[in-house]
Amino acid sequence: MMANLTKATTASSFRDLLSRARSRGASVGFVPTMGALHEGHCALVDEARRRCDFVAVSVFVNPTQFAPGEDFARYPRNVERDEGVCRQAGVDVLFVPSVGEMYPDGDDTKISAGALAEVMCGPLRPGHFEGVATVVTKLLALAGPCTAVFGRKDYQQLQIIKRIVTDLHLPVAVVGHPIVRDSDGLAKSSRNVYLSPDERRRALAIPRALARAARAFSEGERRVEVLLRGAHQLLDPAASSIDYVTVAHPTNLKPLAPEGCVEGTALLAVAMRVGATRLIDNIVLGEDPAPLTESNGRWSAPNQSNPASEAQ
Ligand code: PAF
Repeated sequence: MMANLTKATTASSFRDLLSRARSRGASVGFVPTMGALHEGHCALVDEARRRCDFVAVSVFVNPTQFAPGEDFARYPRNVERDEGVCRQAGVDVLFVPSVGEMYPDGDDTKISAGALAEVMCGPLRPGHFEGVATVVTKLLALAGPCTAVFGRKDYQQLQIIKRIVTDLHLPVAVVGHPIVRDSDGLAKSSRNVYLSPDERRRALAIPRALARAARAFSEGERRVEVLLRGAHQLLDPAASSIDYVTVAHPTNLKPLAPEGCVEGTALLAVAMRVGATRLIDNIVLGEDPAPLTESNGRWSAPNQSNPASEAQ
């Protein structure tokens, strides 16, 4: 699908384009991204397009969400390619602001992500969620009333954004889109380009560990310790280092005690490094389908039945 793509580089032109669409009676869908667009992002755009008449995408590599020493400088950037992807995907407006446009007077005003940022990736990436919360609030403030679509791979980010939208009464419906995976099960990520062929092969331990837990859960296993142990058996030999493997409450993200049992659904989330690349992935046990199936030691992708997105 080809659309008449309009590129906006200033906050005011982005705001005007979206308000004009609304004043023509169109519903607006918005997909905030950091660019290096891949099929995962295209699925978010398709979801926005399915729900709304007019679709905007932002591409902004937000400096405030990278901790010192992280990959801000080398984060993949290719706006020309992203523009082509957006055109092809039927996007109406592409917003590509500069750092000066998003932070005209520095970054004194910050949004604190609260308790949801104190677990999982929060302590390991100081300032990250404050940066995400701040930039997403700015982007949503510019976008105005809309449906904003985010991927569930960044599960903690999604919960934080939902909380901001609720707490700040933003006129936004937040939609969490299921994780999009390659056929070998690896979750799509702009950072996958950093992986060497050997690292990529080792990274497959992640979807396999999630799949193993999903299977155990579907067979009735509820002991947190057993679910964690099964995941570690696959992850430990493959990881260069593990940041965390956690079984947590699916909404408040508090880790469940290892000696306890899951009641209802639970998030199983992983963050680990393969080589120098940090990868994250997750599954909500009791809710999401297993990313892979295992039979006689062989792993294969299940028939994708396009799992439903969840909206706030
Ligand atoms: O998920 C991302 O790509 C970013 O964290 C986001 C939401 C666009 C904020 O910079």
